[in-house]
Amino acid sequence: MRAVVYEGTRSIVVKDVPDARIEEPTDAVIRLTTTNICGSDLHMYEGRTAVEEGTVFGHENMGVVEEVGPAVTRVKVGDRVSVPFNIACGTCRSCTSGWTSFCLRMNPTPEMAGAAYGYANMGPYRGGQAEYLRVPFADVNLLELPLGDEHEDDFTMLSDIFPTGWHGTALAGLAPGDDVAVFGAGPVGLMAAHAAMIQGAARVFVVDQQPDRLRLAEQIGAQPVDFSAGDPVEQIMDATQGRGTDCGVEAVGYQAHDHGGDEHPELVLDNLVQVVRPTGGIGVVGVYVPQDPGAADEGAKEGRVGFDYGTFFTKGQRMGTGQAPVARYNRQLRDLIVAGRATPSFIVSHHLGLEDAPEAYAKFDAREDGWTKVLLRPHG
Ligand SMILES: NC(=O)c1ccc[n+]([C@@H]2O[C@H](COP(=O)([O-])OP(=O)(O)OC[C@H]3O[C@@H](n4cnc5c(N)ncnc54)[C@H](O)[C@@H]3O)[C@@H](O)[C@H]2O)c1
Ligand SMILES: [Zn+2]
Ligand SMILES: [Zn+2]
Repeated sequence: MRAVVYEGTRSIVVKDVPDARIEEPTDAVIRLTTTNICGSDLHMYEGRTAVEEGTVFGHENMGVVEEVGPAVTRVKVGDRVSVPFNIACGTCRSCTSGWTSFCLRMNPTPEMAGAAYGYANMGPYRGGQAEYLRVPFADVNLLELPLGDEHEDDFTMLSDIFPTGWHGTALAGLAPGDDVAVFGAGPVGLMAAHAAMIQGAARVFVVDQQPDRLRLAEQIGAQPVDFSAGDPVEQIMDATQGRGTDCGVEAVGYQAHDHGGDEHPELVLDNLVQVVRPTGGIGVVGVYVPQDPGAADEGAKEGRVGFDYGTFFTKGQRMGTGQAPVARYNRQLRDLIVAGRATPSFIVSHHLGLEDAPEAYAKFDAREDGWTKVLLRPHG
């Protein structure tokens, strides 16, 4: 089968790899209908992770069940399904308490809880930017979708970024009537903004400097804040009569940068500590890593990010972090889509074939104007 394969920094190719197949009786094989490129893939693409050459990328997957193992009882051949990016065993202490993103069994990497498809340090599982995907513990991991092809572009956001954006607001403790600051207007930040609007936030400020992304934020009723036009904290403080927001979401990650493009991994955390009111919550879904050999300073190479912990403590703020447990949210978000209350497809900019992946990665990585979210259709 054809697949998107990592060959080194900023080098990916589309080539033939062995077919995905049933390896355990609890597996299913999915025929991909849509598989998305994610901002998380860019950390690997840019050579800022320990990902191995030869890895098949792709953790945002949906499709139709092609084959099931003999121990699969719930999922059936022909089912249309969304595949959460987390690979969960369904029975460990983390999984049974709702934290499938910290599954204790599926990732053989020492000291790493949580597994995923086609991702650095997240286990040996191949990704779904390919024609077919092997899904372990299919009964646990697959979410059923209505048959047919309706809402394809909305449902494809259920595997990662819509639940992740929602999780950011949950970690932040967002309540109806709150003002919230979302840093990052990439796909994840825009999903957090969409989630906040649906949950009845009073005002949603979305900070970025990419005009096309800020326009999308405005289009869904959020207030765009352009950090290239001045300090985003001051801009939000002015708009809230100096009170700041009730809570905040970090949707940027360790490659946060200033207007000129220089990286400062503490920058957005500092901004959030400043802009969120005392006792407010901060949900960090942007990724930070324990090792980043490509970091600009020595501390950050070892995951030490020197944000303003003193002010954070003094303000009595709370912070929640980590990979999103997709299965906690995906059923409800599917039903919001079906009911017409959520339309996460508003961020989709491109539908391309698998063979177009190298070009799509390059453009998305350059944050070229209009390249917000790329969906690959491996079977046309
Ligand atoms: N926790 C999870 O489960 C999870 C899931 C998916 C993605 N992620 C992570 O979320 C982050 C965002 O993902 P994405 O797909 O939206 O990526 P993206 O790279 O497309 O978007 C990041 C955005 O942040 C903006 N940005 C950079 N510096 C900024 C600053 N100082 N202030 C405000 N905005 C700034 C960039 O211009 C860009 O638009 C990444 O770190 C990704 O790895 C986490
Ligand atoms: Zn993703
Ligand atoms: Zn588990």
